[in-house]
Amino acid sequence: MADNAPAPDAPVLFFDSGVGGLSILKPARALLPNMPVVYAADNAGFPYGTKSEAELTARVPALLGRLVERYRPRIAVIACNTASTIALAAIRAALDIPVVGTVPAIKPAALASKSRVIGVLGTDATVRQPYVDRLAAEHGADCTVLRHGSAALVAYAEARLRGEPADPAIPADALAGLFDQPGGERMDMVVLACTHFPLVEDELAAASPRPLAFLDGGAGIARRIAYLNGDAPWPSDPPSGQAIFTRRDESMSALAPALAGYGLTQINVL
Ligand code: DGL
Repeated sequence: MADNAPAPDAPVLFFDSGVGGLSILKPARALLPNMPVVYAADNAGFPYGTKSEAELTARVPALLGRLVERYRPRIAVIACNTASTIALAAIRAALDIPVVGTVPAIKPAALASKSRVIGVLGTDATVRQPYVDRLAAEHGADCTVLRHGSAALVAYAEARLRGEPADPAIPADALAGLFDQPGGERMDMVVLACTHFPLVEDELAAASPRPLAFLDGGAGIARRIAYLNGDAPWPSDPPSGQAIFTRRDESMSALAPALAGYGLTQINVL
């Protein structure tokens, strides 16, 4: 084993502002069942999607530096489109381990779209990023790429995972933000460009006036983690998964049942 090989119980760190990264954790656990997991939710900084580029660039790389120092992960997964499209380069520069980002799945959507109209549903911060312009230009040059940001749908997903009531009109309103744009009536693919949104994909599908295909990057990220891990062994009996919050608040206990469903049975504060 090379000198720099990770300890067998070194975890993979998943990072998001809240519970959204669970949509990335799920396919990763399915592919790599013995992977030790630390899931970090920056609830003190939530939500990211309404923050400025400057705020997020100042906050996220430094926070990841602390998390990596504390938990010594073998790989960090930025399970958040907002943080990835704004700060991936700065995060990579701050860390000395492999970093996997989450960026909108515009490429597969453009490959699959028959109507050549694609929707990108993300946060306000993500949908305005030049990173998204580049993805659209590179992979969807012959497509109309509609974009809409919905902070309400992020809050809706958080409420659902806490088991709290949420306004049932929110998924339809979020989709209307795409359908109501010129060309929206022909849209056949919706890229779920915020990791919170696959958690409420059933609600989005039920709220859609007509069938749509929803795409996200979770499966590709799982394969990327496996590839970057290479031959480094996983423990035969991995420790139970940990959820780490950046601030103690009442949502921690409300989320415990949902977190346990993803193997995160220990809950701590950074
Ligand atoms: N889950 C995050 C994303 O993928 C951000 C949600 C938020 O904090 O606004 O963009």
